[in-house]
Amino acid sequence: MKRTKGIILAGGAGTRMYPMTSLYSKQLIAMYDKPMIYYPLSTMILAGVKDILIISNDETIPHYKRLFDDGKHLGMNIEYAVQPEPKGIAQAFTIGEKFIGTDNAVLILGDNIFYGYLNFLREAIENNKAATVFGYFVKDPERYGVVEFDEKGKAVSIEEKPKKPKSNYAVPGIYVFDNSCIQRAKDLQPSKRGELEITDLIKTYLDEDSLQVQKIGRGIAWLDSGTPDSLLDAGTFIASIEQRQGLKIGCIEEAAYKAGFIDKKGMKKIIRNMPDSYYRAYLEKALEHRE
Ligand code: TTP
Repeated sequence: MKRTKGIILAGGAGTRMYPMTSLYSKQLIAMYDKPMIYYPLSTMILAGVKDILIISNDETIPHYKRLFDDGKHLGMNIEYAVQPEPKGIAQAFTIGEKFIGTDNAVLILGDNIFYGYLNFLREAIENNKAATVFGYFVKDPERYGVVEFDEKGKAVSIEEKPKKPKSNYAVPGIYVFDNSCIQRAKDLQPSKRGELEITDLIKTYLDEDSLQVQKIGRGIAWLDSGTPDSLLDAGTFIASIEQRQGLKIGCIEEAAYKAGFIDKKGMKKIIRNMPDSYYRAYLEKALEHRE
């Protein structure tokens, strides 16, 4: 069976977040108690994806490397690649060509946060035939790629940031593709804004009738953080859940332990190498509760 390789696209212009993004890309900014990229990375881990390529600009890559190294301590393989300029989300698959090899790929945007029962993603990865994307009901679909369904629930169109959306279903920044996504990305023409559009890549599958669009229900929270306000909202959301439950969202070490990527010994080693902090105390407790 083919494996599925994970890509986290964590660069971008980040103009809406200036001046926070003047030194490095926004996925390093704190979202409540950890850097933003911890959240998409933990989503990948909980979906069972062990091989990850982090794509960003050359100023930010060294910071990610310091955070995650080669991923071995997490029972993972983490690699890095530079996107010289933010020329579109679909470019992830041409940059990631060697990394993906002959496998399938799942791409998550570095500013997309998912919270809730994430089995839908694991299942989508396991069952994907050609391409699987998701539909999430939002009040402001015009900000996103929008998918339209017919009365049988089959996707019939997808449009990028339409002025008049045909539905309220936005496509979140997580996409599962077979290996042909590499060639399809190579064949794309840049859009009017000069980007290789993920919507155009998805459309190639829709045109061949091989696209699956799975609705994500209300039980999942999908947040993105492209603006200072949405960053604050997401941080507040995470803080209230963490404070209420005493359980962390986006804790990559706990996720790796839970996913079986590392055992107790591995977890203990990680904890030993951490400075004395709330985060370390949390992990110690998490380990204790599982003993
Ligand atoms: P966008 O929301 O398109 O862009 P942005 O938030 O970086 O920039 P701006 O504020 O200027 O609109 O990107 C969505 C995510 O994908 C975000 O995490 C950045 C990332 N990205 C890249 O890493 N490379 C790219 O070429 C693009 C288009 C996005």
